Amino acid sequence: MSSVIADTSDAGAVDPLRSTPVLLQVDSSPRAGSVTNLLTAAYAEAWAAARPGATVLRHDLPRLNLPHLNATEMGAWFTEPDDHTDLHHLVLARSNDLIEDLLAADELVIGAPMWNFSIPSSLKAWIDHVTKAGRTITFGPDGPAGLVPARRAVVVSARGSDYRPGTPTAALDMQEPYLRLILGFLGIAEVRCVNVDRQGPSYPEAGDYIEGARAELLELATGP
Ligand SMILES: Cc1cc2nc3c(=O)[nH]c(=O)nc-3n(C[C@H](O)[C@H](O)[C@H](O)COP(=O)(O)O)c2cc1C
Repeated sequence: MSSVIADTSDAGAVDPLRSTPVLLQVDSSPRAGSVTNLLTAAYAEAWAAARPGATVLRHDLPRLNLPHLNATEMGAWFTEPDDHTDLHHLVLARSNDLIEDLLAADELVIGAPMWNFSIPSSLKAWIDHVTKAGRTITFGPDGPAGLVPARRAVVVSARGSDYRPGTPTAALDMQEPYLRLILGFLGIAEVRCVNVDRQGPSYPEAGDYIEGARAELLELATGP
């Protein structure tokens, strides 16, 4: 049986009763020639090829153009269901669809360009829409616990400069620590970060680092 690649930005597309594996691919670079888009696509293709019948669901965040959580969103979240307006229903449906797709995923691959030492705001908006008490996190007597069942998230980041451990700029990386934190908070036990540093103009060998990351990703995608 061949694998299905669903290239869609329409959230809520996965049948919750499916028994075949689902990869949620979340991309956040709007850049033509994006390194992260290239590598998440390679990961998804290899992942699906290794798992017959698998579904890859792609959320292209720049295209989805999610709003920041605004007064309407907050009104919907904190109003009793009986008092919801039509607008509340509309905005709740959007984040519910995003949450359904997250909860349906066996694994995630997230493309995260480094922007201003952190993540693009489109990725932050997605995180804000899907991190929701009662759906993806719960608060009990022992504190918060994540409810997302995906067994692994693979984060692919690309950066102009060099933030590898031991470099003078390593401490400026506000991206990997944050993504590790929030994905763990959501309940995802294993977070693998594949960082493609040195993509800026001062590194003529930048393409070699992309190929190194691609090899690492293909091994991860086809492994257990
Ligand atoms: C708006 C913007 C902000 C950026 N901020 C940083 C930064 O803080 N540190 C860095 O090393 N590179 C920075 N870069 C360079 C990108 O991280 C680099 O071009 C990377 O390849 C982007 O990923 P992409 O190829 O998937 O779009 C920035 C690029 C853009 C467009």
